[in-house]
Amino acid sequence: MKTKNKTRELKASGLIAVLLIGILLLVFIIFFNMKSDNKDNTSAKDKSTKENIKENNGETTSTSTTSTATTTTSTTTTSTTTTKTTTTTKKTTTASSELTGTTSKGYKIEYRNGAYYIDGILIANKSYPLDKNYIPTGTHKATTSGMSHCAECIIEDGYQAFMKMKQDIASTGITMWIQSGYRSYTLQESLYNGYVKRSGRIEADTYSARPGHSEHQTGYAFDVCASKDGKNYPCITSGFNGTEPALWLKDNCYKYGFILRYPEGKDNETGYKHESWHFRYVGVELATKLYNNGNWITLEDYLGIESKYAN
Ligand code: DAL
Ligand code: ZN
Repeated sequence: MKTKNKTRELKASGLIAVLLIGILLLVFIIFFNMKSDNKDNTSAKDKSTKENIKENNGETTSTSTTSTATTTTSTTTTSTTTTKTTTTTKKTTTASSELTGTTSKGYKIEYRNGAYYIDGILIANKSYPLDKNYIPTGTHKATTSGMSHCAECIIEDGYQAFMKMKQDIASTGITMWIQSGYRSYTLQESLYNGYVKRSGRIEADTYSARPGHSEHQTGYAFDVCASKDGKNYPCITSGFNGTEPALWLKDNCYKYGFILRYPEGKDNETGYKHESWHFRYVGVELATKLYNNGNWITLEDYLGIESKYAN
């Protein structure tokens, strides 16, 4: 009888032990499952951050929502910033290998330090973008990475040539100055976004460059404004077309090494409406060729390239 009872007791405690081990195992399984769930959520978050950045590095960078997203993510953690750089490099690599080679007129296209050079000439137009981080060096006043705009940050030779041109036009009683010289990618982005809001993307694309596509980011280009007898001419608007300073510049700027970058009737070549106030330094030799005795040839036509956005 005693032995029977003992056997029953042993059986019962064995069952309890098995039950306890089972419960413990269950608790372990639940605990580890929760841990791995958390891990999965983190990677999903990382993934969505990467996607935001990728989107913002594409051509559709014009919405302020997207820009805000990037600003937030890039300042959040170091690892996010690293991801951003990688994405930028990837895009740049793709773009440069797609576009390098020779133009339809046989000029060599190269990509160096965030910019395209065709026959050695830095080109920024709708087809050939600059890297977001491209900042010109060798400017009269030095550019810095945080700078948004700077009238005197023009490539030194160009700046000296401008000062000479300014001095010479003064003999006609005209005072001329650089209203807009170097502009950062970020400033161009906010300008362009403002124009898109005002007149829509299609219209804005006819007169304002998307960020990364503006010559103002190169340090080689500038917009001038002028006055005479104490009165200002219309400044950076079509009202400047045909004015005394506009006509003087159109026929004299080449002597100083400047080209009228967006001549009248050449929208299909340059991608932009005529701008009688926007000049680009290329040096006297090329400027004289492009002046073409008053019938301006565009850089696009001369080099055999296009100025068109991919989308
Ligand atoms: N207005 C010229 C095209 C620019 O935005 O650079
Ligand atoms: Zn301009």
